[in-house]
Amino acid sequence: MKNIKFISAKEAVKIVKSNDRVHLHSVAVTPHPLIEALCERGRNKEFRNVRIQHIHTEGPAPYADPELEGIFQLESFFVGANVRKQTQSGYADYIPVFLQETQRLIREGYLKVNVAMIQVSVPDKFGYASLGTSVDATLAAVEKADTVIAIVNPNVPRAFGDAMIHINEIDLFVEDDCELVTAEPGPISETDRKIGRYVAELVEDGATLQMGIGAIPNAVLSMLGNHKDLGVHSEMFADGILPLVDKGVVNGKNKKTDKGKMVATFLMGSKKLYDFIGDNPGVAMQDVKYTNRVNVIAKNPKVTAINSALQIDITGQVCADSIGTRFYSGVGGQIDFLRGASLSKGGKPIIAMPSVTNKGISKIAPILTPGAGVVSTRANIHWLVTEYGAVNLYGRTLQDRAKLIISISHPDHQEELDKAAFERFGPHFHFVWDENDD
Ligand code: COA
Repeated sequence: MKNIKFISAKEAVKIVKSNDRVHLHSVAVTPHPLIEALCERGRNKEFRNVRIQHIHTEGPAPYADPELEGIFQLESFFVGANVRKQTQSGYADYIPVFLQETQRLIREGYLKVNVAMIQVSVPDKFGYASLGTSVDATLAAVEKADTVIAIVNPNVPRAFGDAMIHINEIDLFVEDDCELVTAEPGPISETDRKIGRYVAELVEDGATLQMGIGAIPNAVLSMLGNHKDLGVHSEMFADGILPLVDKGVVNGKNKKTDKGKMVATFLMGSKKLYDFIGDNPGVAMQDVKYTNRVNVIAKNPKVTAINSALQIDITGQVCADSIGTRFYSGVGGQIDFLRGASLSKGGKPIIAMPSVTNKGISKIAPILTPGAGVVSTRANIHWLVTEYGAVNLYGRTLQDRAKLIISISHPDHQEELDKAAFERFGPHFHFVWDENDD
């Protein structure tokens, strides 16, 4: 094992030169001291045309500021809240890619990484340190980068799985004890509670869960207290899972891969969540190549994948990355998990969303807004849930789907949606019968 020599962040980022591509560790372990030092050099115009890539970072993202145009160019794999405005105005850019393949872009050389900036836990006596709360495509960047700069931070949890890397893979070391970025679970609204109840009814005992961040997953998890033998194989999880682990509801007993373990590739939550994964052999933080690979996901029984959408049309096309032409998020792992759930024995791919936005706009539309991206196609969608119920579109015709989707739209919008379906499909639409009719 080599001796670690610590240098300052300012010293470490001197390795970056014009035309380099820099990969940033993501979400809670975003390496802010290195970003600040790098941006300081950028403001001093010490280099130009440095491309920045990451899945998504939390906290300030000064490298995406218009004032640094020509110095940095952000090319993210997902549009997070901190770079949304800059992406929508064209200063920052986005690479549409399945989350599973973000690592492939790096490993197979589509994107060359000159410098990877990461945060790791304090190395153990064997020289192993952990990537902590984010492994995602960062492990690939560590493997491929010409130079790896790591902040050794006692606040990074020593998570197991692919998260463990050896310090011999790191070139430059910086010491810092900055806090990781946290997100406390917010209150659950009445609408989210109703959606949560419908989704929870679809979750069977013994299911393997995938869910994203936000109010709906938390609402669902809060209603699973009486379930049995649930497992987790997800791209992420948050605090909502912790009470279910305490109660023994989540025990991974039924899983066919990583039996007894919870699997994710990144986490975002409170300090309690980060402490929970530290030194915990029951959690495997894995490469996104593994967590999001469709055939790995599909090996588990009753995979129940719960994802959300910005808009859906009456035939079942799901937009989850943009509001019209304005990019809001990204493809992420939605398709990876909807497909994996569909192929799993007893699996249930679910899209769950409120029927209207916070401004009262119907999220169910006759046609997608021009420019809206189809993240999941008509053929990918099975269950759709709103606060008005749950419908299964799998194996249903276009006209059946329209009836079912409209039946769980907001009552204020049902008449206009029904009229649009009638105009689209012709008068026969009103003769499509419901199986439940006499
Ligand atoms: N028309 C106009 N505006 C809309 C809209 C629509 N159809 N749907 C949503 N909006 C607006 C909302 O009003 C809200 O605006 P605000 O920021 O001003 O409050 C904003 O868009 C976000 O909507 P919301 O419903 O709160 O989104 P969310 O935070 O629940 O996220 C996705 C939903 C689809 C963006 C998110 O699930 C995602 O990124 N999915 C893709 C990736 C994925 O599925 N990964 C797998 C799980 S991690």
